[in-house]
Amino acid sequence: MPRILITGASRGLGRELARAFNGYQWTLFLLVRSSDAKEELLKEFPKASILISDVRSPEHELRVKGFLGDLSIDVVINNAGSGSKGSSLDSATTEQISSAFETNCLGVFSTVKGAHTALCKSNNALVVNISSRRGSMSMQASGAAQGSGCSYSYRIGKAAQNMLTLCLADDLEADGIRVAAIHPGRLLTKMAPKDAHMTPEKSAELISELIVNKKIENRDYLCMESGSLPW
Ligand SMILES: NC(=O)c1ccc[n+]([C@@H]2O[C@H](COP(=O)([O-])OP(=O)(O)OC[C@H]3O[C@@H](n4cnc5c(N)ncnc54)[C@H](OP(=O)(O)O)[C@@H]3O)[C@@H](O)[C@H]2O)c1
Repeated sequence: MPRILITGASRGLGRELARAFNGYQWTLFLLVRSSDAKEELLKEFPKASILISDVRSPEHELRVKGFLGDLSIDVVINNAGSGSKGSSLDSATTEQISSAFETNCLGVFSTVKGAHTALCKSNNALVVNISSRRGSMSMQASGAAQGSGCSYSYRIGKAAQNMLTLCLADDLEADGIRVAAIHPGRLLTKMAPKDAHMTPEKSAELISELIVNKKIENRDYLCMESGSLPW
């Protein structure tokens, strides 16, 4: 069966993605940040391989590389993400922006670097970066986020992640690896925006169907509510 690596699998969308791919009998490689989260996940997915690592850690890339070893990996879903509450110039801080950039952009970079050799061993490799509508420069330029209360840190972190997605899409095309971004919808999770309405289960069902049925192309920016988004 195909092998999949999912970051941020402890809760929210990541946990539901693990459930969805477990349902398809895929082999799970899950990433969490604590031994408690690992123990809890093992109760539900006893056959899963689980790595404990913070995606911001300087050791993260090498941990991922060691975790996958000589195996091939077919799909990597970079789901771990975070933001903050600073939505105005007065309330936003450089620390918030730096932290969101580290998680949403550098964390994805390190994970993909760590998984690159394993991805090259698959004959149908795919990297999906869980982005957000708030990472879209085109939507931001049209005023779509104005007054939304979304933080500087989250929008900047996800916009940086989107540029990384496109850099990787250019670079890894020659290795036969597709790289795409997905806005999962406005989800009823801990991170929920004011207008959240979709369950993480539903979003995971839609995302997993697209992946299993090989419907995702290199450079796609898909939206689980409207089909696709402008970069
Ligand atoms: N909720 C929405 O409406 C929405 C909309 C658009 C995009 N998204 C994106 O969807 C993804 C999942 O979000 P969610 O709604 O499921 O949020 P969530 O419930 O807050 O879950 C976030 C996950 O990311 C993990 N994580 C955060 N920082 C990490 C780090 N530095 N290293 C490793 N893991 C880390 C968390 O682990 P811990 O349990 O250890 O904290 C948790 O598993 C995120 O990328 C988010 O930006 C969500």
